Formats: sequence, C-alpha cells, structure tokens
Amino acid sequence: MKTIIILGAGQFGHACASLINTSFTRLLAFGDNNVSLHGSALGDVPVMSVKDAVALQPDFALIGVTDQDRTNQLREQARENGFQGEFLLLGELYRWFDIRSATLHRMADRLNYLGVPGDAAELGVYKGDLAWQINGLFPDRTLHLFDTFQGFDARDIEEESQHGFSRARKGEFSDTSISFVRSRLPYPDQAVFHKGFFPETAAGLKRCQYAFVSLDADLYSPILAGLEYFYPRLSPGGMILLHDYNNRRFQGAAQAVADYEKAHGRLPLVPLCDLHGTSVILSV
Ligand SMILES: C[S@@+](CC[C@H](N)C(=O)[O-])C[C@H]1O[C@@H](n2cnc3c(N)ncnc32)[C@H](O)[C@@H]1O
Repeated sequence: MKTIIILGAGQFGHACASLINTSFTRLLAFGDNNVSLHGSALGDVPVMSVKDAVALQPDFALIGVTDQDRTNQLREQARENGFQGEFLLLGELYRWFDIRSATLHRMADRLNYLGVPGDAAELGVYKGDLAWQINGLFPDRTLHLFDTFQGFDARDIEEESQHGFSRARKGEFSDTSISFVRSRLPYPDQAVFHKGFFPETAAGLKRCQYAFVSLDADLYSPILAGLEYFYPRLSPGGMILLHDYNNRRFQGAAQAVADYEKAHGRLPLVPLCDLHGTSVILSV
C-alpha cells in the first residue's frame, strides 16, 4: 500500500481526498499553511503544517490546488522540508479532466436521446462558461439564462452572513454582461436572457417546462428559490445539475436542499465527485 498526503486543505483538496483510490493508497494527512486549520480533521484525516505532513514520509504528495503560484509555493515548501517522493499536481490533472463538464455532456446525451421534452435553463450564468456548453449541447431547445448580471444581491448576502453560510460579498461576479455571454453562445438565437433578481425574474414564467437546469447561484436563498421554481417544472426524466452541494465554501447549497426536502419530501439526489461538490437531481 502506497501512502499520500494532500497539500492544500481547502475545497479542492477535500474533493481530491474523496477521489483517491483507497485500495491502492492510504491518505495520511492534509498539509496547509493556514495555521487555524492545524489540529482539525477533514473526515478522519488530520490537518497539519506542510512540514509535519512531509515528515510522515509519504510516497506521494498531491498538490490540491489549481492556482499555479500556490502550486509552486507548496511544491517548493515540500521540497525544502525534505520531501523525496513523487508529486501529483491537481492543476495539471484538472486541465485535462473535468468531471462536471463530462457529466453535463452525458446528461445531455441521455436527455436528447430519450427526447425528454422541455427547455434548458441556467440560474447563475456569470460569464457563461457553462452556458455556452449547455447551449451547444441543446441546439434545438430554448435556453433560459437567469442572472442579475450585476453579481450577488444585497438581500441574498444578508441572509448568507446572518447564517454564516459563506463569506460571499454583494456585487461579486459583477464583471460580466449579457452581450458578452451572448457573444460566446454557439446558438444565440435560442437564448432568452432574464436579467435581474431571481426569483422575481421567473414570475412571468409559470407555465414553462424544463428538461435540463443548471443551478449555480452559490447562495442559499436563490438556490432554495431555484429548487422551488424549477423542480416542479421538470419534465419526467428531466435533470438538475446543482453546483456546490458538497462545497465547504458555499454551505448554503446543502442547507437549501435540506430545507426544500423538509418542506416537500426527499429529492432523488446523486452527489458527484467533482471539485465543486456538484450533485444531480432527477425528476421522479
Ligand atoms: C458562480 S457564478 C455562476 C458561474 C457560471 N455558472 C459559470 O459557469 O461560470 C454565480 C452567479 O449567480 C448569480 N446570482 C446569485 N444570486 C442570484 C439571484 N438571486 N438572482 C440572479 N442571479 C444570481 C450571480 O450574479 C453570479 O453571476
């Protein structure tokens, strides 16, 4: 059995831990430069300084961040502290493999193959990184795109900080525009933009039916409102791709699911092992 440490105990490092092949390798520890994390544990794996993690003499050190500067910094630190083993770089792997995007493609294949009726939609568009893919995968369907296009709204942020769900700030993700997103879409004529505060922007869309929805608003209130609006309007066989469900940075997503389930009963939800803690919700 080989041994491994993960350097970087944030969301991505944590997500890497659940991807490790435990029949081949054993995760010994997380190493992180954030002193406030030392002495804590992620699951049953301890978080410690980089120096202490390296002192465990693992065979592999997985650098669990994607940012190039932090990757270099952690790698140097490990070497300086005497690490002799092999490095695995999440940033490199992530450039080649993207579980969320791959899952989106397989979902679209199935929805189109089965001919599940309904439109496509995304709540939380930002610069359209996922929207252009959705549009390309569903060329024959209307794509509803919901966003303030001015970043997080003060009403949602108030709720967020009151409950300590995240450290999100008003106006984050505001550096975008409808014209920019539209210019990225392969089938722009299929897109309908709903600019403004969700769920207000869905008020006139009570009769819509959806085959595919991406819920990527990060925060508790819009995600709960998104479930309330979209889930009853999913066609039989329809699917929601919910971002951040297992995300330690945006804990409002899991709470929104829990509160929705408290009010309406269990959702058929399948967690994915991507870096963002995405999950898939199916219609019944
Ligand atoms: C993480 S970004 C979306 C990322 C995007 N899906 C991508 O693929 O890059 C979250 C977005 O949700 C939007 N958002 C959050 N709360 C909202 C609300 N109540 N109404 C409309 N948009 C909202 C923000 O403006 C922001 O653009």
